[in-house]
Amino acid sequence: MSLHIGVDVGGTKVLAAEVEADGTVRRTARRATPGRRVDAALVEQALTEAVAEVAGGRPVDGVGLAAAGFVDAARERVVFAPHLPWQGDDVRRRLAERWGTTVALDNDANCAALAESALGAAVGVEDFLLVTMGTGIGGAVLLGGRVRRGRNGMAGEFGHTQVVPDGRPCECGGAGCWEQYASGNALVRHARSRLGQEPTVLEGLCGGDPDALVGPMVTEAAAGGDAVALAAFASVGDWLGVGIANLVASFDPPLVVVGGGVSAAGDLLLEPARRALARSLVGAPHRSLPPVVRARFGPEAGVVGGALLVRGR
Ligand code: BGC
Ligand code: NA
Ligand code: ZN
Repeated sequence: MSLHIGVDVGGTKVLAAEVEADGTVRRTARRATPGRRVDAALVEQALTEAVAEVAGGRPVDGVGLAAAGFVDAARERVVFAPHLPWQGDDVRRRLAERWGTTVALDNDANCAALAESALGAAVGVEDFLLVTMGTGIGGAVLLGGRVRRGRNGMAGEFGHTQVVPDGRPCECGGAGCWEQYASGNALVRHARSRLGQEPTVLEGLCGGDPDALVGPMVTEAAAGGDAVALAAFASVGDWLGVGIANLVASFDPPLVVVGGGVSAAGDLLLEPARRALARSLVGAPHRSLPPVVRARFGPEAGVVGGALLVRGR
């Protein structure tokens, strides 16, 4: 049996997974992303370890990298990445040589869109938009069944559209970017700001240390009805819907798929987003609104798409 591995290289964590041709995820391995101001070699070491752990000594037929960054039109380099140290690095060739196997590379959201289009929530849908909510916001534009890449390969960088003039500084160097208000980072920032102000189970989950608070804790608390966690999702979900309204105003797509780590929260995130979309979309009473659905592969859409990419699907 062939072994294809997808690797999601995110701003917070690296997830490697053995993925079968039908999208079934088998063995997985995780590493923390070493940071964005570190040497790129440290990130590549984490990837190497995660891939080796999944392979467990078996020969690898191909690795597909779903990277949280701007990938060039040739899909060779990560040109720029707000959350990773790669800046113009020839990632694909370098890792193919290091690992002695076929390596494919694309932007993480583009990979997620590939997975959802081939096997997930958008099967049979020619045109759709995909938004991933993780450390930041990623995006993909599918038209006529194909991921549209733009002139530089950089189409779909929705997370860095400005939604607040002179707003919060962003890791990309800009300010007021959408992902500063609707992302895993925004969710955690919102919840942290309430610690010590209001009673919340998050105090216990993070052991009283705000720095130890991470996204999945907020999801867990919100699922249990915690008011502080629910308020964080209400805020992030609302901003998600406002941004989606801008995208729908631009593309008028029949479907919007939401993936990424934060999408694990399902309707806790998507319900406030749908309400904000209906409220904010231009001409809403005169049009049908696109369904906003969770990615079938949820937070694993990136690894599944990475593996499909290297399988040549
Ligand atoms: C990056 C994108 C990436 C997204 C999600 C953004 O900050 O600019 O390239 O797809 O985060 O990881
Ligand atoms: Na993209
Ligand atoms: Zn930005």
